Amino acid sequence: MEIKNITIIGSGALGSRIGLQAAISGYQVTFYDISETILDAAKSMLMKIGRQLVKSNKLTIESQGQALSRIHFTTDMNIALADCDFVSESVTEELSIKEKVWQQIGELAPVKTVFTTNTSYLLPSQLAALSGRPEKFCAFHFHDVFYARVVDIMPHPGTNPELIPLLQSLGRKLNQVPVLVKRESPGYIFNFMLMAVLGAAGRLKTKDVASIEDIDRSWMVNFHMPTGPFGILDNIGLDTAWHVVKERPDEASRAFAKMLKEYIDLGKLGEKSGEGFYRYPNPVYRDPEFLNS
Ligand SMILES: NC(=O)c1ccc[n+]([C@@H]2O[C@H](COP(=O)([O-])OP(=O)(O)OC[C@H]3O[C@@H](n4cnc5c(N)ncnc54)[C@H](O)[C@@H]3O)[C@@H](O)[C@H]2O)c1
Repeated sequence: MEIKNITIIGSGALGSRIGLQAAISGYQVTFYDISETILDAAKSMLMKIGRQLVKSNKLTIESQGQALSRIHFTTDMNIALADCDFVSESVTEELSIKEKVWQQIGELAPVKTVFTTNTSYLLPSQLAALSGRPEKFCAFHFHDVFYARVVDIMPHPGTNPELIPLLQSLGRKLNQVPVLVKRESPGYIFNFMLMAVLGAAGRLKTKDVASIEDIDRSWMVNFHMPTGPFGILDNIGLDTAWHVVKERPDEASRAFAKMLKEYIDLGKLGEKSGEGFYRYPNPVYRDPEFLNS
């Protein structure tokens, strides 16, 4: 099948990035979210990322304008799905929200539509049946889209195998490197490894073994990385991380979830709210002196 119209359900941090890349790649993109205010924030985000891409010579001003002309916004799911070939769902990482949304999508989308979720840690089999078309349902999970360009393709046992080459091809058209997760596994490939590192960092902090800054310095210096585990958590969003960590039963995860919740309750959600473990737009770890202090 040919994909022309892509609908993004949930236009927050990741939905807006996926949709912007899809528009840059030439697709017609419709963004859906629950309020005009959130869609306005998504518009500002698209402009901001577009400017960064132009500044770093990854996009010309002309291509940015053309991409933006292919983008539409709506708070009406009927309109969002009316002629949709492909859904990429990026709503809040909460099972009950995703369940409700997939039921709605299944009721409203045309027969031709391919269904994908960008969930970070849920499994597609937890949502597929609710969509009413489990054979058309697959996880298609992005990382950061523009700088971290791996896209995980993770079918559930009922996914039609013909979807896999379609998703591999779409992934490449979206400037991503597709990787196939052969069987359902929470966290796919990279996030599974990342969770181990972030969990260890959380444990070092909640047990008061080291400061946030020294934990990040250790990682950054030894691996020549621009960001440490807590900077990465700020980038992911503390609320998104909390939704994942709070589901884990072990004591270390419970302590880490409690710590994340304390930041969230203060409105410190990470980079997107201007503050998390660090303050943005100029967090101290980007200061060259950080590694020497
Ligand atoms: N943040 C990351 O680094 C990252 C990376 C890969 C995947 N993801 C996944 O992407 C998804 C979204 O994460 P995010 O970081 O963009 O979160 P976010 O909080 O920035 O965005 C979530 C969006 O979902 C919307 N939403 C909530 N309920 C909705 C509903 N009923 N209908 C439509 N929209 C609704 C919210 O209004 C919000 O705009 C999650 O599943 C997350 O696990 C996140």
